[in-house]
Parts: sequence; C-alpha cells; structure tokens
Amino acid sequence: MSLENKNIVLGVCGGIAAYKACDIIRQLTKLKANVECVLTKSVSNFIAPLTLQTLSKNKVHQDMFESIENYDINHISLAKKADIIVIVPATADTIARLAVGRADDLLSSIVLASKAKILICPAMNSNMLSHKAVCNNITILKSYGYDFVMPESGELACGDCGDGRLAKIEVIVSNIVEILS
Ligand SMILES: Cc1cc2nc3c(=O)[nH]c(=O)nc-3n(C[C@H](O)[C@H](O)[C@H](O)COP(=O)(O)O)c2cc1C
Repeated sequence: MSLENKNIVLGVCGGIAAYKACDIIRQLTKLKANVECVLTKSVSNFIAPLTLQTLSKNKVHQDMFESIENYDINHISLAKKADIIVIVPATADTIARLAVGRADDLLSSIVLASKAKILICPAMNSNMLSHKAVCNNITILKSYGYDFVMPESGELACGDCGDGRLAKIEVIVSNIVEILS
C-alpha cells in the first residue's frame, strides 16, 4: 500500500489531541504521501508548528494573509492540489465554522474552495460531542458528502470518561488509504 503522488492537506485544530496529528503525519509520510499541514490560529497553544513542519517536511500554513509567493494564493492552490483534506483533531468550533460555510480562516477557506474528499475526525469532551448544536453541525456536514471518523469512548484529557476521544491513529490512516484508493 503506497500513497505516492498523493497530496494530503492535513487540517489541525486547537484541541488537546492536536499532538496526535504528529503520529498521523509519520504514518502518512511512511506511505510516501505528501502532507501539507494547515493549522487553525489556536493550534499554536497546543503544539509547535515547527514540529508539524519538521515531521511533514513541508512549510506549514496558518495565515490566510501571508505574503503571496509566485502569485500563488495559498487557499486556492492548496484546495486545488489536495487529493483529500483530513481534519484532525476537528474541534467543535471548526465543525461549526464549516457547517455554516464560513471562510474566516485559512482552513475553512481551503475546504470551501476544494473539490477534494473531506475527512473529519472530531475530538472533544463528551458533553460537547452530544450537544445538539454539534450533532446538527455534523449532520449538515455529512449531508455535504463529508466523511467522518467518529471519536471513540474512553478516558478524556479533562478526566471525564465517555465518547469524544480521537479515533485510533491506525483507524484514521486506514480510512484515508481507503478513500484515496
Ligand atoms: C486545554 C484546552 C483543551 C481544549 N480541547 C478541545 C477539544 O479537545 N475539542 C474541542 O472541540 N475544543 C477544545 N478546546 C476549545 C478550543 O480550543 C476552542 O474552541 C478554539 O476556539 C478552537 O479553535 P479552532 O477550531 O479554530 O482550532 C480546548 C480548549 C482548551 C483551553
């Protein structure tokens, strides 16, 4: 199984599971995929962009208004280049942003501008996950044809026990492989 010549845009959001994106990058690059990380503004509170940059061997993208290189507008070029956009961990906030079609940050703009497959891997506290607002937003995104790898049950970082823990890395990676093949 190889992901050679596949371009994966990995959207990383500001949740406690952001560090798990590192393992996903390692697995995907082992399969020879080209991984480009797009970070929401809050990610830097959880994980250093330099870590994601080093593991992916690509510059990370976080600022919609960074200076344009070679007349390449980031959100459009990444949207076109992507074979798949994977959002992991997907926060309640980013899920809401996508459900209403906002384009107020780089990641949501790329999603709106792309025809690629979208795979969303939420992770959050179980009360957040079961809140009607979050459930409705997930239903909306499913109706757009977005795929989901839903969280599993277990001990959460906040100390609670229940649904909301990011799905296992190998489950996420096998979903990516399956969609791309
Ligand atoms: C310590 C800490 C952990 C958090 N973990 C999560 C989380 O696992 N899932 C989630 O949806 N939000 C979590 N949040 C809240 C998000 O950081 C917040 O909603 C933020 O606006 C998300 O922005 P983004 O979606 O643009 O990254 C956490 C906040 C803090 C302070």
